Formats: sequence, C-alpha cells, structure tokens
Amino acid sequence: MKRYVNYINGEWVASESGEWVQNTNPANGEVLGEVTSSTEKDVDRAVQAAKMAQKKWALVPAPERADILYTVANLLKERKEELAQVLTTEMGKVIAEARGEVQEAIDMAFYMAGEGRRLFGETVPSELRDKFAMSVRVPVGVAGLITPWNFPIAIASWKSLPALVAGNAVVWKPATETPFLAAEFVKIYEEAGLPKGLLNLVYGSGSVVGNAIVEHPGIDLVSFTGSNEVGAKINGRAGELLKRTSLEMGGKNAVTVLEDADLDLAADGIVWSAFGTTGQRCTACSRVIVQETVKEALEQKVLEKMNNLKLGDGLDESVDVGPVINRSALEKIHEYVKIGQEEGAKMLAGGEIATGNGLDKGNYYQPTLFTDVRADMRIAQEEIFGPVVSFIPVKDLDEAIEVNNSVKFGLSSSIFTADVNKVFRAMRDFDTGIVYVNAGTTGAEIHLPFGGTKGTGNGHRDSGVASLDVFTEWRSLYVDYSGKIQRAQIDNY
Ligand code: UN1
Repeated sequence: MKRYVNYINGEWVASESGEWVQNTNPANGEVLGEVTSSTEKDVDRAVQAAKMAQKKWALVPAPERADILYTVANLLKERKEELAQVLTTEMGKVIAEARGEVQEAIDMAFYMAGEGRRLFGETVPSELRDKFAMSVRVPVGVAGLITPWNFPIAIASWKSLPALVAGNAVVWKPATETPFLAAEFVKIYEEAGLPKGLLNLVYGSGSVVGNAIVEHPGIDLVSFTGSNEVGAKINGRAGELLKRTSLEMGGKNAVTVLEDADLDLAADGIVWSAFGTTGQRCTACSRVIVQETVKEALEQKVLEKMNNLKLGDGLDESVDVGPVINRSALEKIHEYVKIGQEEGAKMLAGGEIATGNGLDKGNYYQPTLFTDVRADMRIAQEEIFGPVVSFIPVKDLDEAIEVNNSVKFGLSSSIFTADVNKVFRAMRDFDTGIVYVNAGTTGAEIHLPFGGTKGTGNGHRDSGVASLDVFTEWRSLYVDYSGKIQRAQIDNY
C-alpha cells in the first residue's frame, strides 16, 4: 500500500497522530493508498520552519528566486503525462482535461518565473523639490494555502508560485481527495532546488489542519478556494485575527443564448461548460438563459449532443464524462435533482445515478437537463457542482441580464449573439468577474485575473499579476536629497 506523508522543513515525515486516511479512485472505488492525518502540532512545526526559511528567502534577489520557478516549469512540462495520469486516477476528470490542467500549472510557472524580473512597483514624481518617490512590493511572510480537489494542481500553482516568487514561505493543505498529486508537485519543487522550509505540505482535514492554519499566529495570510460555508468561517475568524484572506468560492454561472446566435456553436459551448469536468468546475455552466423563441431548437441541439456523451473512467481516451468526486457528492447532486422535480421544473434528460457497464463501482451521474426552470428556483440559485443544467426561458436581453445577475454568486457568465451592441451591453451589465462572448463559461487563462464578485469571493483574484496583490504588501519609499526637512502639503503651497 502506497503511503503519503507530510513534507515539513525539507523532510518527508508522517504525523505523530499515527492515523491514516485512504485515498480512493472515484472511477472504480479502488483504494490507491493512504495518507497521514495531521494535527495542530504538525502545522506548528511547518509554520516554524516556514518562518525561519522566509527570512532568508526574502533577501534572495527575485530573479534568483525565479530561476527555481523556471526549473519547476520545465519539470512540470517533462512530467506532464505522468502528472495527468495521477490527477485522473485520484480525482476522476478525463485524461484530456487532466493534461489541460497540468498545462495550466506549466503556464503559471513560466509566467510567475517571469515576474521575478518584473514585480513592478511605481516611480512617481514627488511634489517637493529634490525628493524621490516610489513604491515596491514586499513579501507578506508566511502564506497558508488551502486548495480544492477539482483543480488540484492548477489552483495550487495559482497560489504557491506567486507566493514564492514574491518572497513568501508557504504552508499548504491540499484537499483530502487529491493528496498524491500534491506530493508530486512538492517533489518537483524539491528537485528544482527550493530551499527547505519554504514549501511545507501538511495533509489533513479542514477542521483540524485548515483550522490550525487560520489560527496560527505565524500565518500572515490565508488563500482559500472551496465552499462558501468554509470560506465564510475562515474570513470571520481571520477578520478577528486581522489576517489577510483571499477567498475563491462558489459559482452559479449562466450561458445566455439570444435568438440571433449560432445555435450549434451555443450548444457546443453549453455541453462543454456544463458537463466538462463532470460539472465540477467553479466556472461550470449550470444555467442556460435562453430567448424563448429559440428555446426548443436549442434544447434539441443540446439533447442530441448529450446523447453522444460517453460516461466512464477518465483514463479511457474515448470517455467524455468521468465520475464525480465521491459518494456524498453523488448523493447531493441526486438530492438537487429531486428538489428540481418537486419545484416543478421539467426534466428532459438524465436524473439518475448512472449504473451498468461497470459504472456501479464508481460515482457516476447521468448528465441531466431541466427546462422551464424559473430563475428563483433552488436548482437555479444554489451551486450543485455536478452534471446538471437548467434552462430558463426569457423574453429579451434585459430579462437575461436580470436573471444572470439574480444569484448570490458572481464568477463567470457568457453570451451567444451576433449583435455587437448586445455583446457590449452584456460585457458591461453582467455582474461577474469573468464574461465570455460566443464561448462557454469555462476556460480562463492564467495571465488574467481569476475570480468573482458578490458571494464568490472577497475582492481578491488568483492568477494573473493580480495574484501578486494577495502575496505582497506595498511599501512606499521617499528619499529626500534636499538636505533640509521639507514639509509635504505645507511648504510647497
Ligand atoms: C475552478 O473551477 O475552480 O476556467 C477553476 C476554467 C479553468 C479553471 C477553473 N481554467 O474553468
């Protein structure tokens, strides 16, 4: 049986708890190995190591820090296939998507390595004579990272790479469901020559390890991606402790299709965004807001494409839709389908746990389509995180915008139309952090900010240069070479 242990201060060590948690393959229930289950003590050791290492790291020139990131990028590239296989085996997404996700980490590593030679601040004129003014980014200190299972390496890369290039140290708790890929990622950092103590991996539950990360006085900031329930708790406690948080949480993303749209293109976009990653993307399309004149035509096109989706083990290259992460996710999805039926939505496809052809051993759900859904129904308001999509008919663009914005989340939205005026209205009036035109709701690229408004986040962004704002403080520097004490705002006016 494979055993996975923590990585603290450059050593692979099991927790003293002596407890182990099994890791299973969601495609077939097979036990893949077991993982050490950590305690507050392990977190404390990780934080102490991180604090020590960070002091030295902050003094290493950023381009030199970035050299290690370039090596990380190259190693990720070399091992892309191997990492993708690990990803699919423990998380379930189909192999083509797993490769895409590893690519996202590769892109992020090269991009953030480049930041080692930028990390731009500003130089600005001073209002006084013989005085120089500028701002620089300085590291925050020790970053606690809590990452989800749905994008186990991409999201870990969005957080760890900017943290490290900016001169911070990291204590990382990956999701319980995806421990092996986390270890592989850490091994790559280790091989790339990252000094010990800068990246510490602590396995365990949110209630023990996650909590300890939030509570520990040596953790200066917490970057979290996951559920709203947990995010709100983290933010509440971190607020009391005056710690910085960056939160990336739920979505209830919609594709809007107007009557002048290319309906085949829209149907492709809907099927990819709703059923790709088995609907388990924060950016997944779970609502289709369709102009009523083309509702039936669009439904038919989407249903046809859904009929061709093959369910199964994601390692099989011919499979389109893999399993969902675990049994409780499967039950939650089925619960929502029942709620939708009780609310009076009309189900046109799916609606059952998938069985037969060996699917019984894994956690499979039939791709499901509801129509004649009202915008205020629970299935149109709450995050389901599975292969379920709801069609909501509307009269026109005004109503579409209203429905799009009627949820508590604000991550991603999209519009299909051929009318440039409507495109620009949607880009202005959809209230999400990401807006797509003539594409589905997924597919964010790493050099732009990733995140959402309203209940999706707390104003911060992952990836892009924006992620540096999470992991750095601004320091403003004034150098007066006039030889006298000049009083700003007073002596010059
Ligand atoms: C997520 O679901 O949390 O845009 C991340 C996308 C991917 C990232 C999704 N590049 O769907």
